[in-house]
Amino acid sequence: MKNNTIFYILFIFCLLACKQELPKLDQMHSHSHSRTDHHSYAQPDQAISKHLSLNLHANFKEKILSGEVIHTIQNNGASEIIFDVKNLVIESISIASKESENQLNYVKTDFTLGKSDDFLGQALHVKINENTTKVKIKYSTTDNASAVDWLDPIQTTDKQKPFLFTQGQAILTRTWIPCQDSPGIRVTYDAKLQVPSDLMAVMSAKNPQSRNENGEYNFIMEQAIPPYLIALAIGDLVFKPIGKRTGVYAEPSVIDKAVYEFADMEKMLIAAEELYGPYLWEQYDVIVLPASFPFGGMENPRLTFATPTILAGDRSLTALIAHELAHSWSGNLVTNATWDDFWLNEGFTVYFERRIMEALYGVDYVKMLTQLGIQDLNNQIKELGAESDDTHLKLSLKERDPDDGMTDIAYEKGCLFLMALEEEVGREKFDEFLKKYFSDHQFQTLTTEEFLEYLNRVLIQPEGVEIDIDAWVYSPGLPSLRPNVESNKFDLVEAFMGDKFKENNWTTKGTEAWSTHEWLHFIRSLPSDMDNTQASALDETYQFSKSGNSEIIAAWLEKSIYNGYYKNIESELENFLVNIGRRKFLTPLYKGLKNVGDLDLAKSIYTKARPNYHAVSSQTMDALLN
Ligand code: BES
Ligand code: ZN
Repeated sequence: MKNNTIFYILFIFCLLACKQELPKLDQMHSHSHSRTDHHSYAQPDQAISKHLSLNLHANFKEKILSGEVIHTIQNNGASEIIFDVKNLVIESISIASKESENQLNYVKTDFTLGKSDDFLGQALHVKINENTTKVKIKYSTTDNASAVDWLDPIQTTDKQKPFLFTQGQAILTRTWIPCQDSPGIRVTYDAKLQVPSDLMAVMSAKNPQSRNENGEYNFIMEQAIPPYLIALAIGDLVFKPIGKRTGVYAEPSVIDKAVYEFADMEKMLIAAEELYGPYLWEQYDVIVLPASFPFGGMENPRLTFATPTILAGDRSLTALIAHELAHSWSGNLVTNATWDDFWLNEGFTVYFERRIMEALYGVDYVKMLTQLGIQDLNNQIKELGAESDDTHLKLSLKERDPDDGMTDIAYEKGCLFLMALEEEVGREKFDEFLKKYFSDHQFQTLTTEEFLEYLNRVLIQPEGVEIDIDAWVYSPGLPSLRPNVESNKFDLVEAFMGDKFKENNWTTKGTEAWSTHEWLHFIRSLPSDMDNTQASALDETYQFSKSGNSEIIAAWLEKSIYNGYYKNIESELENFLVNIGRRKFLTPLYKGLKNVGDLDLAKSIYTKARPNYHAVSSQTMDALLN
């Protein structure tokens, strides 16, 4: 009798539970929930690294990092632990176990390297026993450490001393540290770095603020982070504070410019906290790197790495700082479980970035950013093909370079999806949801499906939201029902342009207050078939090819390639391509030269420029030009 009742209650419960599950299952049919990371050999279920202890020497003469890493592991009784490595020299490996932990008696152990894959590198299989808690790997890097850029003095801004920086995302940390290089795995770390005594070292960790006479630096990162966020820079660096928790590192000649440019950093941090909860990393600094840095910015925790090309002199390119700062929540605190879920990092971050910018500079400013973003998105969809799987938010990067996922889809379609949700429930409810999302998942990783389950449970069901998840996340192109943003400031730019083009009669009067974004809209709006007389007149009036603003000159150079005017400004084009290594600028220019049939010029410039590029950029350009 009693048993029957329990059975009956259970039966009803199951029925109800199934009914509740229905809409979710319906929406997500056929989408796998797998957390398997196709871009790592690690088997975290067997044995997982929890902390790593680095002890490295930076040899600038040989351009080699060498020393050891000790992994503290959580061992589920495994007989081996697998790490990711790529182009490393493994000298020896030893292990220590629980019993011997007090005196840490390391004994040599066997290891084997798996077959090498172009993107992934190799699996490093290390023999352990069920008591093993520490694995010590002695190793050194090689010339082919794609993460590491070793710069000669001439390649730095001050041209006095050498420089080194690393770039870990997406799967490059394994080229300078043997580790379980998956975004679904989190480690704390400490590090000891020996560097030349006239240089200073900084990491994505608690950092020194002045140079140390003996060149030895010690670091601690107490919060658990995915290995792609372990980062190192070494150079002739100085530090200056901006606010209580914010500051800048740069080469001596750059520091004051950077302090001026990033004056609002502390305000950004406060605005971000007001939006989505406390900043959990204590300090937020930015290091301005030499021009070969292949990205605009990289959100290494506590220390964003940034390109010098955002130092426009008028603080107009600081949305990038807001972006990297926002990653302290979206990406670094709550991380994509695999690179197929990359939009969880970047789409949220673009949305968050614009909310920070709105808090500081107002809606009209952000409308410009959003409209430019939507333009980029539409162009990207055209380029990838409207039906391409690569235009889905949820990607499928198995057996491909995860770099292929770094398109405007993750960034701008991702952001647009969140804007659509915001439109549905209203800003207040949506902000509450995001704040809860970050706090419920802090220091965790999520797949797209786990996010959608959470979204469904916490927002869609309770608020009765009607949104076509399948169209946004698992379908190509853009849903027909989507937010659109038009900037009133851009309307003014168009009004200014008026008939001037027809008359070829240009003036700077009325443009004095324009920001970089208005200029970008102006240049993007120029007809692609304008002739040399028109291009010259424009260049004469606005001095685009002499612009010190990287965004403006890059947009102008691209335009000039397609209408032939570039032949008049070839030295400016070459100068830009040789001195700047930011891939976002390089790709459209080399691609443009290729498209208009001037592969010869592209190749001759590239021959000079290539030694200045980080591997991330040269790999992309190699593929484009060869
Ligand atoms: N995390 C990215 C950079 C990245 C993505 C590196 C994928 C390697 C693989 C960073 O936050 C970023 O998005 N940077 C942008 C700037 C931003 C304002 C859109 C960039 O570098 O252009
Ligand atoms: Zn980003």
